[in-house]
Amino acid sequence: MIIGVPGETASDEERVALVPPVAAELIADGHDIYVGAGVGETADWSDEAYESVGCTVLGNREDVFEQADIILQVRALGATDDASLDTYRENQLVVGLLGPYDIDDATLAELAERNVSAFALELIPRISRAQSMDALSSMASLGGYKATLVAATELPKMFPLEMTAAGTIRPAEVFIIGAGVAGLKAISTAERLGASVRAYDIRLEVKQEVESLGADFVELDLETEGAGDEEGYAIEMGEEFLEQQRKKLTRVVADSDVVITTAAIPGRPAPELVTTEMIENMDAGSVIIDLSAESGGNCEPTVADERIDHDGVTILGPTDLPSTVTHTASEQFANNMKNFLQNMVVDGTFTIDTTDEIVDSTLLTHDGEIRNPHIQDEPPNTDDSGDKADKEASETEGTDAE
Ligand code: NAI
Repeated sequence: MIIGVPGETASDEERVALVPPVAAELIADGHDIYVGAGVGETADWSDEAYESVGCTVLGNREDVFEQADIILQVRALGATDDASLDTYRENQLVVGLLGPYDIDDATLAELAERNVSAFALELIPRISRAQSMDALSSMASLGGYKATLVAATELPKMFPLEMTAAGTIRPAEVFIIGAGVAGLKAISTAERLGASVRAYDIRLEVKQEVESLGADFVELDLETEGAGDEEGYAIEMGEEFLEQQRKKLTRVVADSDVVITTAAIPGRPAPELVTTEMIENMDAGSVIIDLSAESGGNCEPTVADERIDHDGVTILGPTDLPSTVTHTASEQFANNMKNFLQNMVVDGTFTIDTTDEIVDSTLLTHDGEIRNPHIQDEPPNTDDSGDKADKEASETEGTDAE
């Protein structure tokens, strides 16, 4: 197959979908690779580095679209503001973070009409076989790492305990809410920096993992039976339950110098777990990093990509931290891409085998059809999506909190 890397269109995107060492592996598998001029520059990979492993560098992204069978993007379609469909050819494949919950119906219809097979990496199932392709997890891990570093830089206190001639420096109190992929990485990074770390998650099964990293698990006296699914994702809880959570979290938040929030439910708005009132109980100088800012935020005052100062507490909601660790993020992403493509080679032939769970889950459009039931069940970008969330929340009320 001819694999093309046209480069990113989102202005804040610094990652590149394929890096030369990983391109070399795909070339060894028998593929040809065409990249747009300068695609790797922001991640410190020169055109010469691509050429040196056997890639062909073309003039611009349109040239790549014209020649390639498979297009690799970090972000495309529903995952960018400026996505254009014009460049996609009949029967082309596109693989990347495609924003499956945000992509609009007209785009999906147009892709299907052009017979484009679109694979959204966000929908990779959390099964062991797919771990090496799970780009969301790779990126969340980098996000958790970088969030902790940002917090350490912002906090006007040191993280580690130190006994000095000038007195004892008490360790910073760091509290992580949500101990999924990003949260666990934030915990391990804060531990390495010497902070005193506590963490909380609605899924009690993560307690052991949290403790194995050296942090204390905060248990709230709440009924959370059935709060997680078999893939390790939380389910959406009702407003009454969230209200209980907020009440019980108030003291822990108030006692923390740093709060990093990562609570998320795939495809749903982030649960609001830290209110403005709770923040008012924190000491001035404290820092909150809200990793869920893009899906609405876990903290009431969060505004995506803005710095908020509330009563001396800094609240940051960065939305693209992996892009600030560009080189590593691109390497990880490229490896996920390579593993995803290699999974599709059956008996030496590149095949779209929809009986494969990974292919089936990720495929948004194929053979002229919009085919992902996940997306069809949950129409994106509808004006009533907020109402729907509220309605679902109120339907689960009572049972969740009891
Ligand atoms: P994940 O699904 O692995 O973890 C989310 C955790 O939140 C789960 O353990 C879940 O049980 C927990 N949770 C859900 N509802 C909760 C509640 N009410 N109370 C307590 N815990 C609750 O997700 P992952 O991959 O760790 O990502 C976390 C967030 O970080 C997502 O919103 C993701 O989009 C975001 N992210 C942000 C980045 C950035 O640059 N800002 C980079 C990468 C990820």
